[in-house]
Amino acid sequence: MTDFAWWQRGIIYQIYPRSFNDSNADGIGDLQGIIDRLDYLNDGTPNSLGIDAIWISPFYPSPMADFGYDVANYTDVDKMFGDLATFDRLVQEAHKRNIKLIVDYVPNHSSDEHAWFTESSSSRDNPKADWYIWKDPKPDGSLPNNWGAVFGGPAWTWNEARQQYYFHQFHPKQPDLNWRNPEVREAMHNVLRFWMDRGVDGFRMDVVYMIWKHPDMPDQPPMSRNLALRGDDDIFNTQEQIYSFNYDGIHERMKELRAVLNEQEAVGIGEIWLPLKERMKFYGQDDEFHMPFNFGLFASKDGDFSSDAEWSAERVREVVDEYEQAANPVSGWPNWVLGNHDIPRLASRVGEKHARLAAMLLLSLRGTPTLYMGDEIGMVNGEIAPEQMRDPQGVNLGVEHTRDVCRTPMQWDNSPYAGFSTVETWLPVTSDYPTRNVKAQQADDTSLLSLYRRLIWQRKQSPALSVGSYEPLDSPPGTFVFLRQYEDETKLVALNFSDRPKSFDIDGVGLVVIDTMLNQIGIEHTGTLRIEADAGVIFDLVRE
Ligand code: GLC
Repeated sequence: MTDFAWWQRGIIYQIYPRSFNDSNADGIGDLQGIIDRLDYLNDGTPNSLGIDAIWISPFYPSPMADFGYDVANYTDVDKMFGDLATFDRLVQEAHKRNIKLIVDYVPNHSSDEHAWFTESSSSRDNPKADWYIWKDPKPDGSLPNNWGAVFGGPAWTWNEARQQYYFHQFHPKQPDLNWRNPEVREAMHNVLRFWMDRGVDGFRMDVVYMIWKHPDMPDQPPMSRNLALRGDDDIFNTQEQIYSFNYDGIHERMKELRAVLNEQEAVGIGEIWLPLKERMKFYGQDDEFHMPFNFGLFASKDGDFSSDAEWSAERVREVVDEYEQAANPVSGWPNWVLGNHDIPRLASRVGEKHARLAAMLLLSLRGTPTLYMGDEIGMVNGEIAPEQMRDPQGVNLGVEHTRDVCRTPMQWDNSPYAGFSTVETWLPVTSDYPTRNVKAQQADDTSLLSLYRRLIWQRKQSPALSVGSYEPLDSPPGTFVFLRQYEDETKLVALNFSDRPKSFDIDGVGLVVIDTMLNQIGIEHTGTLRIEADAGVIFDLVRE
């Protein structure tokens, strides 16, 4: 076990800081709010959740056009979240509890209110003139190319001062940095150094596979698959992004980033929405990312990410097996994600009935799990009326595309505003908070939160579950059964996605270590294992 690094053994917990905990009564979460809840995350005892690292989405100064993913200063804290001194305290307080700190790094674009962009956009010949991507209109005055923005519309916006267009892969308030300029690379590498010097242990790198574009930016070809269009303004989903995503030379840039991380042994986690084969290349030969995020369980088929990806034993097993087969045994440490701030809530996607099964899956697969805040209490999609929408994706493309649903305030208790705040909150608190909240689930030792907590502590105590090998077994339809093994410890994980009990034979004796309903622990099965409908069990397997 000691041969494994913290990021391999550990469990990462993602915090969306606007929605985690508000310490200063402005309806928006903040860094002090996170400090105040660290004991919930891990106080060193099995009474706490027990996670090992937190990844915090951006808290940098920002006009919040994309809620912090539009950074106006990479090396400071937005006043609404605190200041650098609060951040330093957060590092200390987290480390005191053996919690590592991972921050978000947004390399592809800054805010249009970043001083770099203000300077760059002021004229065609200022020192930062080439720090962003500027192009003249075509001779007929039209846009420089056909590229579409992720949040809808064309990816170009006109600038009066320069009489040119600038490129933005996302929102017009998120101009793309020009990574072909070595000064930009150096400045952005120094951002990593700034936070490493302050003690951060790693970075989650936002859409990092997009930073390197074709130098001439030719028109993108039409989409060869049939992606559902998100309204009339959706140019993006009509095109293959072959000249902008994962473009030739991207891996050189990734290696440079890794070299900077290595200066202080920080961990790099890349946000890579690409088909399996391409995603795996972002490990490099252990010289790119420690972990390119594995979004395989969000794909309806390889590379087609959608929020209604099939949730069945057969599909999940297929995703896991293909991923395991593609993983480099030496430098391809796996990882799993089932929720984040960009996709509908896990409990809403798989159905509340399967929230427990999903918890067991996430915490028993081989590889580092990343758990999104609130999923541990089964938070469901928030109720967002069109006039309450804040997310630019929803505002531009329609309420069914808003990511606000997974960003509603964390439900801590049943007091007004769910214990998240004492005033009106930036997004509405979901109406089920009086019953679905941390406090209520802490008091119930069979709650979903208790299941997460016990699964996490079980995993920490078990080398087989935390770092052992993975071996799928043949099992009845509707079930996914696999072994995790380390030295002489064998755990058998049996997940029944179907609505009927299932049985299968094993060679030996299985002792229930934990089950999703938390009511079978300690029961011994010999020869035949029976799994209830919609339930999962982890057994300690003793072969005869
Ligand atoms: C990533 C973030 C998302 C953001 C986008 C642009 O996908 O996770 O929230 O809107 O990048 O920065």
